Amino acid sequence: MEIGLNSAESWNAEWEKWFARYSRGTPRLGMWLAWSQKVDGRDTLELGAGSGRESRFLAARARSVTCVDFSSGAMDALRESRPPLNLRACTMDARNLDFPDGAFDLSFHKGFWSCFGDDDDVALLFAEQLRVTRGTLLALVHNAANSKMHEMFRRKAGTDKLYQVRFYQPEELMTIARSGLADAGIDAAVRIRGFGGPDWMHRGLLARSNPSVQGCLAALAYRCRPLAQAESLVLEVRITNRHP
Ligand SMILES: C[S@@+](CC[C@H](N)C(=O)[O-])C[C@H]1O[C@@H](n2cnc3c(N)ncnc32)[C@H](O)[C@@H]1O
Repeated sequence: MEIGLNSAESWNAEWEKWFARYSRGTPRLGMWLAWSQKVDGRDTLELGAGSGRESRFLAARARSVTCVDFSSGAMDALRESRPPLNLRACTMDARNLDFPDGAFDLSFHKGFWSCFGDDDDVALLFAEQLRVTRGTLLALVHNAANSKMHEMFRRKAGTDKLYQVRFYQPEELMTIARSGLADAGIDAAVRIRGFGGPDWMHRGLLARSNPSVQGCLAALAYRCRPLAQAESLVLEVRITNRHP
């Protein structure tokens, strides 16, 4: 499928417009991750990090947070925005990461694989993320099971390239994970979950509550919510064994 923004230059132009506004938004993913994953004292990696909003939030808990994006504009803006000392912003192509094997306890991204229409590219991205992860790998993608959201994106894609993105079915994610794990000789527990949707826990008075309360309420709500209502599908891969 045709992806609207598919080069570092096009993303540079986009981030020049949106970086400041996006950075100020609620770090919904960071709050949920801090609650639902082991983050405290760990080394984390965010791919296609853009504004770095989620990683900036996680920096207060993690030992280190590393943001990777091939948009030099976004990574320069992140470095200039006085990030916490344990946050580093790297301009890098995620298909060829300059990190050693197993460098990170937790790696994640949101909306990143939705920028790739070609299955071979996604397989390469998965393999590279898997290589540098020693604990848990997460991939959050646009949810094709959410037909309402998918239809809204199809409508807007005609006039705005930002909406020309790939949506994934849960089975597609399972296939990517199973085949990538087999190629790499890695055993892992794999599952699909949902993230986001009608996020009342970040609105009104609750928006002023402690981020842990918001993260906890989000975790509960997402567990009860049907997958068809989730904004993103979450592919979760917990590595249990690497065969030599
Ligand atoms: C949909 S945005 C994700 C935004 C980010 N998750 C956030 O919340 O701010 C996709 C990001 O992936 C980046 N990107 C696309 N292809 C890339 C590649 N091959 N390597 C690294 N980053 C890439 C783009 O520059 C863009 O910032």
